[in-house]
Amino acid sequence: MTEVYYFSGAGHSLAVAEYIARELCCEAYNIEDGVNTYGRCETAVVVFPVYCQNIPRIVKDFLKKLEADYIAFAVTYGGISYGNVLSEAQELASAIVTSAAIIPMGHTFLDGDFIFDKKPVSLFIERLKKKEAVRIPEKKKNIFADFLPGWRSRVSVKIKVSAECTGCNICGDSCPMNAIKCGATSKDCIRCMKCVTSCPAGALSYEKGFLLNLYLNKKRKKKNIELII
Ligand SMILES: Cc1cc2nc3c(=O)[nH]c(=O)nc-3n(C[C@H](O)[C@H](O)[C@H](O)COP(=O)(O)O)c2cc1C
Ligand code: SF4
Ligand code: SF4
Repeated sequence: MTEVYYFSGAGHSLAVAEYIARELCCEAYNIEDGVNTYGRCETAVVVFPVYCQNIPRIVKDFLKKLEADYIAFAVTYGGISYGNVLSEAQELASAIVTSAAIIPMGHTFLDGDFIFDKKPVSLFIERLKKKEAVRIPEKKKNIFADFLPGWRSRVSVKIKVSAECTGCNICGDSCPMNAIKCGATSKDCIRCMKCVTSCPAGALSYEKGFLLNLYLNKKRKKKNIELII
């Protein structure tokens, strides 16, 4: 039995998870619902984004608890850098890794799109069906990648609430980190932007700091999907 599990802040990883689940004729489950909801599966396909060159905390916790024989990773990122996330994910999961894909997509903070190249993702899917181990290469990380990634996100991106706020707290209900109440965020916020897209009144917005804008707007080569198959 194969299941797809995903975490997605702004919807990029969700688009990939839904595609993979359709191709595999299985369900796509939200990691936020908790690992205990699902029980054991034979093959788990885990789809998640890169945040600050790292695996989001909620995904790390999920991987530690997941019970599966085989695992495949489909990782989305903004085409800048994905650190050493595959190797780190392999260490956290106690399952045999059978396929992996690093998928460049729109960047959350660049109003990016949700389009990805489906052809290589099909190869990723074919490979995981073989249930044979692949070798995940160790990648070098930027020296600042592990320096307080959550804090770096919070200082570079401010979330603002406007007078349109109705106090419904749908933002609070949607937050995977339990880090916002009626538009006011706490230090547990990972800046995934789920609250911003969930607010029915459009009362939440975000503002990028000067340095982040410089970093994001730097000219870079367009990246292709990378496969470990
Ligand atoms: C807090 C945060 C940090 C991010 N850090 C990186 C990064 O280090 N490198 C990168 O290429 N993209 C980065 N991105 C972009 C996301 O990885 C990319 O847009 C991803 O597809 C978002 O998926 P999601 O919408 O499913 O959350 C970051 C996005 C967010 C919100
Ligand atoms: S979801 Fe929007 S309107 Fe509702 S409490 Fe949060 S910020 Fe206010
Ligand atoms: S408060 Fe932070 S962690 Fe919670 S949904 Fe909003 S951006 Fe994501």
